[in-house]
Amino acid sequence: MADVIWGLATSHVPSIGAAMDHGKTDEPYWKPLFDGYAPARKWMQDHRPDVAVVIYNDHANSVGLDLVPAFGLGTAERYPVADEGWGRRPVPPVIGSPELSAHLVRELIDDSFDIATFNQLDVDHGLTVPLSVYCPDPGDAWPCAVVPLLVNVIQYPQPTAARCYALGQALGRAIRSFPQDLRVAVFGTGGMSHQLAGARAGMINEPFDRMFLETVESDPARLTALTREDYIREAGTEGLELIMWLVMRGALGPNIRRISDGYHVPASNTAAGIALFEVMDRNGSVVG
Ligand code: DHB
Ligand code: FE
Repeated sequence: MADVIWGLATSHVPSIGAAMDHGKTDEPYWKPLFDGYAPARKWMQDHRPDVAVVIYNDHANSVGLDLVPAFGLGTAERYPVADEGWGRRPVPPVIGSPELSAHLVRELIDDSFDIATFNQLDVDHGLTVPLSVYCPDPGDAWPCAVVPLLVNVIQYPQPTAARCYALGQALGRAIRSFPQDLRVAVFGTGGMSHQLAGARAGMINEPFDRMFLETVESDPARLTALTREDYIREAGTEGLELIMWLVMRGALGPNIRRISDGYHVPASNTAAGIALFEVMDRNGSVVG
């Protein structure tokens, strides 16, 4: 049977990817951020998954505003890297896991999550930057297959935090019912506080971010009680991306152990957060 072995939460700021692509990670602006990634990266190197389910949002780069599903799941064999206007990032194409995708779509629909299917999808920074956070030097190929799970965080009304957490719980059940022995990691991407436009552009709310970073481990139910308006007020219009961390958290189940975390301001306009959790079983033993 498949298992969820760990969960990674990470911001997906495009310039974090650009800093890696252009060899700037040792520059004074970027070094503290990348130094903060080191412990998580080392641990993940030693605990490699077969597949990563990456919860992310497209930023109207390859999924236009003509059709905005609340939730969607990629079912393709391969996901080209999107050109977001300045050429494709120089990273490998993303290889899918169509069999696992087909299983997850069916299980989620049977579990009352009427999820859209993306049989063709270019993936933007929301997905490729977290992959680079996991694996900074992929060479010709990423070290695992990927199943993209999309959440609408850009057009009102976005799904509630509670619904995202419940989706994550259903996702965890669906992964664990896949009959093949697969080690699956779940990525929750986006956040932390940021707002890219309007009168509050550039806002950062460190107390809220630090509360979220702590509470996502210890009391996710408290975070599901917040409305989308609460998230936007406290974390900014784009800070609402944090609801995608709750999908990841739901998939991990109740017994987890924090491996590492980090918080750094600024990364572009964003408070960049990272948190890595290992999944334990009911008896406190490591899963996987
Ligand atoms: C930035 C952050 C994001 O989450 C994003 O999707 C695009 C840009 C930024 O801070 O620059
Ligand atoms: Fe974003």
